[in-house]
Amino acid sequence: MQIFVTGASGWIGSAAVAELLESGHHVVGLARSDTSAERLEAAGAAVQRGDLTDPANLAAAAARSDGVLHLGFQHDVAWRGDFVQAAANERAAVEAMGAALAGSDRPFVLASGMIGLARGRPATEDEGLAATAQVRNNPAGLRAATALLALSLRGIGVRSRVLRFPPTVHGDGDHGFIRTLVQLARERGVAAYVGEGTNRWAAVHRSDAARLARLALESAPAGSVLHAVADEGVALHVIAETMARHLELPTASLSPAQAVEHFGHLGHFVGLDSASTASSTRALLGWEPKGPSLLEDLEADHYYRHVP
Ligand SMILES: NC(=O)c1ccc[n+]([C@@H]2O[C@H](COP(=O)([O-])OP(=O)(O)OC[C@H]3O[C@@H](n4cnc5c(N)ncnc54)[C@H](OP(=O)(O)O)[C@@H]3O)[C@@H](O)[C@H]2O)c1
Repeated sequence: MQIFVTGASGWIGSAAVAELLESGHHVVGLARSDTSAERLEAAGAAVQRGDLTDPANLAAAAARSDGVLHLGFQHDVAWRGDFVQAAANERAAVEAMGAALAGSDRPFVLASGMIGLARGRPATEDEGLAATAQVRNNPAGLRAATALLALSLRGIGVRSRVLRFPPTVHGDGDHGFIRTLVQLARERGVAAYVGEGTNRWAAVHRSDAARLARLALESAPAGSVLHAVADEGVALHVIAETMARHLELPTASLSPAQAVEHFGHLGHFVGLDSASTASSTRALLGWEPKGPSLLEDLEADHYYRHVP
């Protein structure tokens, strides 16, 4: 198949592109810069120049494809403080690509998240989307509303699926939440967690996330919600203690107010319980994670050696 991949130069996207190419697909990756375009070409993908803020361009590329893997997200805009704009652009992109694929029965996979979905037990694929989407004034709510929109594309003849990633998609080269926690611990001289640190984060290794992205595209049923989860939940105090041991730093428990100060833009997420299961996903697609667990990865030196 010819797959149009947005976010193709990103952390998950670059692994998914390699996975798709290895499986015999032809990949057209969205690139907004020369650097990203060069990386994609070097990997063996074709390049669609363009920006996530240009829905017409995205729609044209989607229309030329046999399927779309939408992994692009304006994290730079979101972390600068304009999450609402980034989420609005994501929604416009989904609307445009969905319209371009209408009536084609082609697959469309939207990446989303699962932060804070757990309610005293790991969140399953069946829950959280509609309830979270009601909460329009927070990041999870805005993205959940777009995920619901993506699933509704089924009604206009698009085989749409939502692929939810846990708070950490980890591995060597990670520039996401775990890398940020290590950097913050170094800068502040302490590896911290909120309260007792018993809230948990689900996790998956990047290689397993990429393989599931391919399977989602190739064979998930229309309308399915999939979870890229290997570790159902690792307690934040355990994550902090492991980092502290490697960095030779103390650990500390913070109040929610102190957490906002300590963790900056992560302050509102770190204390949330984001445990999750992937039982339905595994049964549906025969996906079994093979990569290292989060704690195995945190014992490797790559999270510590790249940090200046
Ligand atoms: N990584 C995680 O732990 C995690 C957890 C939960 C959910 N997710 C979700 O999974 C998806 C992929 O995440 P990721 O970690 O791979 O993200 P990432 O590494 O930040 O990559 C983002 C991608 O989007 C592209 N992009 C950003 N702004 C753009 C713009 N204006 N125009 C065109 N392209 C643009 C980037 O291009 P450049 O390379 O040119 O910057 C990059 O390819 C996202 O929806 C993310 O929210 C990820």
